[in-house]
Amino acid sequence: MARQGQEDAFYHKAKKEGYAARSVYKLKEIDQRYRLFRQGQKVLDLGCHPGSWLQYAAHKVGPGGLVVGVDLEQPAVELPPQVRFLQGDILTLPPEALARFAPAYDLALSDAAPKTTGVKGADVAKSLELTARAVELGLSLLKPGGALLAKVFYGKDVDQLIHRIKRAFKLGKAYKPKVTTAGSKEIYLLGQGYKGGE
Ligand SMILES: C[S@@+](CC[C@H](N)C(=O)[O-])C[C@H]1O[C@@H](n2cnc3c(N)ncnc32)[C@H](O)[C@@H]1O
Repeated sequence: MARQGQEDAFYHKAKKEGYAARSVYKLKEIDQRYRLFRQGQKVLDLGCHPGSWLQYAAHKVGPGGLVVGVDLEQPAVELPPQVRFLQGDILTLPPEALARFAPAYDLALSDAAPKTTGVKGADVAKSLELTARAVELGLSLLKPGGALLAKVFYGKDVDQLIHRIKRAFKLGKAYKPKVTTAGSKEIYLLGQGYKGGE
């Protein structure tokens, strides 16, 4: 299928399945490959608007789990009771604000991204700033053994962040989902088996 056709197909699939955005299919692909979720987990979702990752995570952790989402903007969909939402800026939000919901988390997700300006260097730099902050928030709130998944626009200095993740986790890698938009520079950084103590 041509790339544009594939994007449209995922847009319509998301609508039909009741998801707030087609980005859910990237999370689903990574989950199917790396088994991110389990029932009862506590999950952080940084940059969660409009809410498709919240919907997917809520389903995967079930009613006994907890999903805490943060974004500048409110979710655009109705969410089940195991989801809590905090409106805020991850660049300034202290970890204590998230520790109020749960002292430690099993999984930290970040799909946070800047509004793109078309100026590639500036977009990549802003994405790196957001993702580096999301990684630090995740590391300060994860349980030992926990996992992290964070999107970033690939560019200069991203390799340093990949090394940071490789040091902090037993397994660290960068992954590009097959369902990513044509020409997109986004990659997902994955850490599994958090060593703790950061
Ligand atoms: C690609 S969207 C996330 C899509 C979401 N994962 C979903 O599936 O519905 C990126 C989000 O990052 C958020 N964002 C950007 N900068 C942020 C910041 N400083 N603090 C919190 N959220 C931020 C944006 O508001 C936007 O909603």
